[in-house]
Amino acid sequence: MNNENKPVKPWGGVFTESTDSRMEAFSESISFDKRMFEQDVRGSIAHARMLADVGLLTRDEFEAIERELLEIKDRIARGEFEFSRSLEDIHMHVEKALIDKLGDVGRKLHTARSRNDQVSLDFRLWIRDAIDKLDALLTDLQKSFVGRCDGDFDVVVPAYTHARRAQPVLAPHVWLAFVEKFQRDRERLADCRKRVNSLNLGTAACAGTSLPIDRTKVAEYLGFDSIVANSVDASSDRDFAVEFAFDMAQIALHLSVWAEDWIWQSTVEFDFLKLPQSFCTGSSIMPQKVNPDALELIRGKTARVVGNLQSLLMLTKGIPLAYDRDLQEDKEPIFDSFETVAASLAIAAPLVAGAELKRESISARLDEGYLDATSLMEYLIRKGVPQRAAHGVVGRLVRQGIESGKALAQFPIETLKEACELVDESVYDYLGALNAVNALKSYGSSAPEQVRFQIDSWKKKLGL
Ligand code: ARG
Repeated sequence: MNNENKPVKPWGGVFTESTDSRMEAFSESISFDKRMFEQDVRGSIAHARMLADVGLLTRDEFEAIERELLEIKDRIARGEFEFSRSLEDIHMHVEKALIDKLGDVGRKLHTARSRNDQVSLDFRLWIRDAIDKLDALLTDLQKSFVGRCDGDFDVVVPAYTHARRAQPVLAPHVWLAFVEKFQRDRERLADCRKRVNSLNLGTAACAGTSLPIDRTKVAEYLGFDSIVANSVDASSDRDFAVEFAFDMAQIALHLSVWAEDWIWQSTVEFDFLKLPQSFCTGSSIMPQKVNPDALELIRGKTARVVGNLQSLLMLTKGIPLAYDRDLQEDKEPIFDSFETVAASLAIAAPLVAGAELKRESISARLDEGYLDATSLMEYLIRKGVPQRAAHGVVGRLVRQGIESGKALAQFPIETLKEACELVDESVYDYLGALNAVNALKSYGSSAPEQVRFQIDSWKKKLGL
């Protein structure tokens, strides 16, 4: 028996007891799935339009349903819609509001459809929109990096391996390394979008329906590229969400690597970068502090995005076919990852554009750390010395340099000749970080003409 003052549940008949309020509180998803209201209404209108196409609704009934659904959507958007946790989710809220207005006509909307259908449809539509938003944010960040490249073209910086000075590169070469990573993130999202953009609706609870529905039409109305071919699969599938959670985790990881790099490079110890103060905060006790909080938060928030991926992996492990209520737990991690990653990207773009390279302090120490050692080794290889032998020669010279406090370029020609008789005066064209960069040649290297080519092609790709 249902309580008089409680909204009637759509499962009515078989129950003789009303739902315990503790169960309602435990079971509700409206508090978080209400954000899919626009997608829910969009999906219902497409479904109703198809029902009219195949004669399960009259045109007049469809038009009344469409009009009321749009009105409900506007009411929710304006904040004038009353939510109640006794109506579990967004699907029940929208349908109940429709029935309140249209009576029996409203009761026809759910023909040949289940909430298992609806929840997956709404989630697919929501993720599809989210992917498009992330793509735009990633593009903005790529533009910030590429936008720096011309201005920073003449700056040579150390590239590091094992956090030790390795080889010299042009600063834009590093910027474009991030651009490439974010491009792969965009490609991954685009690939995920193909699987998200497959219509599940029309599989009813799990077996399909005996009613004459037309899924092709619904796919067309909602802009889906394909139709899920198996109703049991459609009802149980959340791969698309797991995949999206991974794609977002990978974006967060890339952002975290960048944040870590820039945190260290903007320290007094490095003194390579000045972060825009508008994206830093101070200390309440130490007046000198300008802290890189934006970068630290981006790095820190990566933890929850990775955690959300972990949640989805565990959630979808070993639940029996087809839909199980466990799957209600899929949304909060996805919503949280999206909000976190979108907010991080939105902060990263202006931060990248607003930072300044500290050219003087970078160049003052550029010839420390033997960044040109590989350049000298390759010079010897070009002179005919086998690589392993050349490596040994340069290694001994570096040891001598460390002992005498000299850079390789500061050695007189006699010392260099003593180390290897094939050396001549031209060796100095390859010593020093600047010369070492200019000597680079291979495709994808930091050779200035390679970097120029890459900058120009990125500008073209990004419409800059
Ligand atoms: N609130 C549910 C969810 O988010 C909707 C689907 C419920 N289906 C069901 N058969 N109980 O997953």
